[in-house]
Amino acid sequence: MRMLDLIEKKRDGGVLTPEEINFIIRRYVSGAIPDYQMSAMLMAIFFQGMLASETAALTQAMAQSGDQVDLSPIQGIKVDKHSTGGVGDKTTLIIAPMVAAAGGKIAKMSGRGLGHTGGTIDKLESIPGFQTSMTREQFFRIVNENGAAIIGQSGSIAPADKKLYALRDVTGTINSIPLIASSIMSKKLASGSDRILLDVKTGNGAFMKTLPDAVALARTMVAIGRHSGRKTIALVTNMDVPLGNCIGNALEVKEAISVLQGHGPRDLRGICILLASYLLYLSEKGSMDDCRRMAEQVLSDGSAFSSFQNMVAAQGGDVSVLDDLDTFHPSAYQTPVCAPTDGYLTEMDTQGCGVASSLLGAGRETKESRLDYSAGIFLKKKTGDFVHRGDVIAVLHTSREETLKPARDRFLQALTFGASAPLQKPLVLAQISDESEDCL
Ligand code: URA
Repeated sequence: MRMLDLIEKKRDGGVLTPEEINFIIRRYVSGAIPDYQMSAMLMAIFFQGMLASETAALTQAMAQSGDQVDLSPIQGIKVDKHSTGGVGDKTTLIIAPMVAAAGGKIAKMSGRGLGHTGGTIDKLESIPGFQTSMTREQFFRIVNENGAAIIGQSGSIAPADKKLYALRDVTGTINSIPLIASSIMSKKLASGSDRILLDVKTGNGAFMKTLPDAVALARTMVAIGRHSGRKTIALVTNMDVPLGNCIGNALEVKEAISVLQGHGPRDLRGICILLASYLLYLSEKGSMDDCRRMAEQVLSDGSAFSSFQNMVAAQGGDVSVLDDLDTFHPSAYQTPVCAPTDGYLTEMDTQGCGVASSLLGAGRETKESRLDYSAGIFLKKKTGDFVHRGDVIAVLHTSREETLKPARDRFLQALTFGASAPLQKPLVLAQISDESEDCL
């Protein structure tokens, strides 16, 4: 077999066999296929697409390129949830303890921030002492004892994806449905959970900007789950507006705690109840109605917050900081951003809000950048709110004063005002599973 022939085959619209796909992935990971040939193959896939059978074979080959975690030492059904990336999306911090409090098992491997989107591991590491890497035995023990643990994804999970992702990033081949689906699902399959819930974000703050593209991605990933014998459900949710009121690592931890204590913004609380209900349903804890009641109950009776405290303590974090959130990464500099005009906030460029938060220090400019955990944006107004000129729309937080001006300019650029109220999109736009597909 020759890579050159396979590139030409894909370029001309041919269908790659599982043997050919295995050959490509094995030899690319070993270094026998150079980046320039793989780039040509990625571009051919970008333009020609892949059949479901090719995407499934690509996912399997990538999942098998490294360790495949065996979660069988953890008792019960292990569930996992994956978001395709958003702004202000701190749902994992909330739903993992919710699921644990209701008797489910969630052994979660998460990532760091990517581009304008935040990452669960960065948020958790803002808690002093919190360990996001540990031995498998420790990880299994914590999940068995507490129901939930969240660790960073090790480099040995799907190394083919790591290499391919870096190449896609610099060859204009990120936005391809078979490539995104195989990238995400290879990591999910290798991480070992029995059932998978996908939160596919769509809108101006997501990788998938349009609903039809998000639905196509969701369908592709549910089909991969089916092919691989892992029950998978996908929800398509709105990312035309940041989720909740806080963007930035410590600010998001504080907001997550507020939801876990039975408060928090309505949109964030609503989506967490929904996601946790699906995870409990996938864990066979009852009907969807029963699972929804359980999800609401663990927030109102304080058991989800206790479960979060247990998880933090078990992973070495200092739980005392959770008692007085005013002392948890207070920012040295805070500045309000005021409305420049009267009118409705008709649109927020959510990606722009994420970039502004990153400029304040919440995200990385280079791989070596040090995060400022106190940095971020507290939104006092969101899409659909009416403001008078001079009203505070948001407060910017940082420890680096020099970032305030560029971040403020970038944030203001992300806002659009108008005379009439915009149509509000629902938070959940579609649900896709093997049994059903509903556009809501
Ligand atoms: N997240 C991933 O893990 N991979 C992609 O290709 C896009 C988002």
